[in-house]
Amino acid sequence: MERDTIAILDFGSQYTQLIARRFRELQVYSEILPPNIRASRLRARPLRGIVLSGGPDSVYARTAPRCDKAIFDLGVPVLGICYGMQLMAHTLGGDVRRAGGSEYGHALFEPRGDGPLLRGLRSPTRVWMSHGDSILQAPPGFRVMGSSGANPVAAMEAPERRLFGILFHPEVVHTEEGMTVLTNFLDICGCDRHWNAASFIEDAVSRIRATVGEGRVICALSGGVDSAVTALLVHRAVGDRLTSVFVDNGLLRLDEAAQVRQRFAQRLKLKVVFVDAARRFLARLKGVADPEQKRKIIGREFIEVFKAAKAGKADFLAQGTLYPDVIESTSVRGPSVVIKSHHNVGGLPKGLKFKLVEPLRELFKDEVRAVGLRLGLDEEFVYRQPFPGPGLAVRCLGPVSRKRLDLLRAADAVLVQEIKAAGLYRSLWQSFAVLLPVRSVGVMGDDRTYQFTAAIRAVDSKDGMTADWARLPHDLLARISSRIVNEVRGINRVVYDVSSKPPSTIEWE
Ligand code: XMP
Repeated sequence: MERDTIAILDFGSQYTQLIARRFRELQVYSEILPPNIRASRLRARPLRGIVLSGGPDSVYARTAPRCDKAIFDLGVPVLGICYGMQLMAHTLGGDVRRAGGSEYGHALFEPRGDGPLLRGLRSPTRVWMSHGDSILQAPPGFRVMGSSGANPVAAMEAPERRLFGILFHPEVVHTEEGMTVLTNFLDICGCDRHWNAASFIEDAVSRIRATVGEGRVICALSGGVDSAVTALLVHRAVGDRLTSVFVDNGLLRLDEAAQVRQRFAQRLKLKVVFVDAARRFLARLKGVADPEQKRKIIGREFIEVFKAAKAGKADFLAQGTLYPDVIESTSVRGPSVVIKSHHNVGGLPKGLKFKLVEPLRELFKDEVRAVGLRLGLDEEFVYRQPFPGPGLAVRCLGPVSRKRLDLLRAADAVLVQEIKAAGLYRSLWQSFAVLLPVRSVGVMGDDRTYQFTAAIRAVDSKDGMTADWARLPHDLLARISSRIVNEVRGINRVVYDVSSKPPSTIEWE
């Protein structure tokens, strides 16, 4: 299905993904592309407009990323933001320099004239700036449409060519009328605005059908949102020609396996092959204390179990790859190391020959959640905190055993219950218990105890790459601690982890 698209060429701004998300919030599909993509390749798309993103470079530097000049002559509107505007100015004959007009943070912008891009803005209006260079002169054929502080050219346009530039970042919430600017741009582009979860589902289902034909698909349900939404979409497209495999590796949280059964097999009617491999995983992990060893063993076992679960009969493997993983490799910064990917478990089993179906490749996490809700998943599930592939093995420090895992599960369940009761579950990035391989002395009634310690980890984060420990109320910590010590026999001490990432990590192993 054809759909109106805004292409964003990524010059390396930390806000590039945000631009795409804002357009999508305005119900127009938007995708991020490498900065130097050829104009001829863009023409092949159902393209309505192009955005040149911000970026950390100076346009006059030798190594600065550039775009194909021909995109300015494609006839579709182009909006340059920050570096994107400077690049447009530089490429088309304007004057860009380091001229002492740098602005970082809040600024006041004064629009001028009545161009279509800035229509309806207050004067002045509060914007977010992040640039070192200034445009001293707009290129020939451009009109100056606004200024800010020491920058005489903070907005420009060449209306006949439909080229626009703004120095501020409309995608950032601190730009109070940013959405007005983006909406104006969509109007200039003449975009139909009906890209949303429902239209995505319709589109994805027909694409999956076209890809899979009469083939069979297999999907590994991890218990997380991405694989669940993937399975539901594929199920909607090909019905029972999808087999989902759920491996109980013995490293899941309390009642998790039962919940998956109830939610997916019973309520959502997915065909799920349940593999109880707890014994097998725990046997392989016996006596292993080294974190990397644990991860390797779990990854290897998963593939073995998956293979054995008749995976060989399928032609396609459905995976829950998301958009941030996809653009990571096309960004101007080049493929960078994502902290999560190097220890991902449950990804494509190497050595298994499948064609891939990745219906979520173009979605951000919050969009996956919206699609999940529409496909019938419940809110509690859709808003679950992330859980690592190797499960409780990396939260049970030292050698993993069924007994110690049970202690951890019980402590973790208390913690999650209390965090939910305090209304903090959704706002925290993660909150979980860790079992330390440390025993200490305590006293219970008249008895001396010598038992394990549980650590509580609760962090705030946007994406898991950096995190800060959450300032949980002391009363809440007191309740969690007292309940764990009283209810979990085998734990007599609770400590709170007050480390941020970096230099620590979120998980302990
Ligand atoms: P760290 O501990 O590296 O974790 O700060 C960052 C985020 O990644 C999650 N995590 C994983 N996710 N497979 C995953 O899918 C894994 O092996 C894995 N290890 C850590 C972690 O929970 C946090 O959200």
